[in-house]
Amino acid sequence: MGVALLQQLNADHKVMARILYCLQMQIKGFENLDFVFNSSQILDILDYISFVPERWHHPVEDIIFKRMLQRAPPHPSHIVGVLSEHDGLEQLTEELKVAFRRVTTDGRVPVAQLYQTATIYLTRQMLHLDAEETVLFPLAQELLTESDWTELEMLAEDILNQDDELTHNSYDHLRDSILNFEQEPYQSESD
Ligand SMILES: [Fe+2]
Ligand SMILES: [Fe+2]
Repeated sequence: MGVALLQQLNADHKVMARILYCLQMQIKGFENLDFVFNSSQILDILDYISFVPERWHHPVEDIIFKRMLQRAPPHPSHIVGVLSEHDGLEQLTEELKVAFRRVTTDGRVPVAQLYQTATIYLTRQMLHLDAEETVLFPLAQELLTESDWTELEMLAEDILNQDDELTHNSYDHLRDSILNFEQEPYQSESD
């Protein structure tokens, strides 16, 4: 029950984890004062991690988690906590975007703070994905009935259909270009 929807969410997590890894690779050199970061790759990553979760992934999880809360779950406060992290993560993504913009427009801004914000961001994102995969998704399978899943699948479809095919295609394309860049050998400025 609910396998298709949970499989899709797990697949989203795999993509998200790979994209977060790309961000980690990009910020790795920040401690080096001479490091020249690839701002277009970073801006692509920030665009992806702010749009896709906020518009499609979190809303689908929200309807599942809220339905779980109606089914007398064993530790409701844990579900409420994960649910409220969506707003927190979206806000942190915005803060990260602002910090990157400041560094790219004003070279005098130290990157140390940006490095710190990005590291906290990556940790929080990974912990969030882990809590969902190891606790909430398996619990959803136990708690929700077949009719819950039928209804949730229809609601999820509505969420995804809020945006047209062109928007979906453009984010698929963005995802591929971020991940393909990761696979290419790194070129330094002097190459
Ligand atoms: Fe989530
Ligand atoms: Fe998630």
